[in-house]
Amino acid sequence: MNSDSPIGMFDSGMGGISVLKTALRLMPAENFVYFGDTANAPYGDKSESEILKLSLSAVDKLLKYDIKALVIACNTATAASANALRRRLSIPVIGMEPALKPASSIRHGGKVIVLATKATLSLEKFHILMEKYGADAYPLPAPELVHFVESGVFDSPKLDSYLSELFSPYKNDQIDAVVLGCTHYPFLKSAIQRAAGSGAVLVDGNEGTIKRLISVLEEKSLTRKNGKGSVALLSSKTGGDTIARMEKLLYF
Ligand code: DGL
Repeated sequence: MNSDSPIGMFDSGMGGISVLKTALRLMPAENFVYFGDTANAPYGDKSESEILKLSLSAVDKLLKYDIKALVIACNTATAASANALRRRLSIPVIGMEPALKPASSIRHGGKVIVLATKATLSLEKFHILMEKYGADAYPLPAPELVHFVESGVFDSPKLDSYLSELFSPYKNDQIDAVVLGCTHYPFLKSAIQRAAGSGAVLVDGNEGTIKRLISVLEEKSLTRKNGKGSVALLSSKTGGDTIARMEKLLYF
């Protein structure tokens, strides 16, 4: 393993492509291998032990590529498996968590809504985060959103009506920020913005995660600095157009 070795990333499906997109912008010389566990998506409605099992098997696939670092490009998988993965692997493991800390710093008297999967919001990692940064923060599980993204729907009347129903308990409130606590949600920004209102700032953890990755690789002298990097996309769902849809999301 050396600086030319790829960085491995995985998610339950298409969501981590939003993280990979940020990585390509900030680290254009790096090589990446991305695994979307599309056949098993969504993770967010599963139990912690099921998510852990699926995450370990996703990582086994990436380890075959001699990866120099692992990004768990999924808040749900991070909550269920980051500790176990850090114990098992000798490479750096970068996880994700809902960006509640930056969101809480832009709050100015209104509410912070934390959109994430049911699993993310129920696991211990999130409770610890809420204790630290959760003043006037309201967790809002949004189980359907992953399905919209996985089926390639990013804007539609059905999506708008789902979101307006979801946000209806807050319709008379001042919403200062919405945390996009699942890596699928950045693909739905326009619709989420309409539902939350134009005064709400949408905050995701993608850039923070990639900056952390950059600094960890620098510390270990594992940064690839020159040339153009490459991307390999893999999915547990064989056949069909999954890889083509991932490419479309990544490059357009
Ligand atoms: N993209 C994932 C996350 O960041 C989860 C989506 C799912 O439920 O599979 O939480």
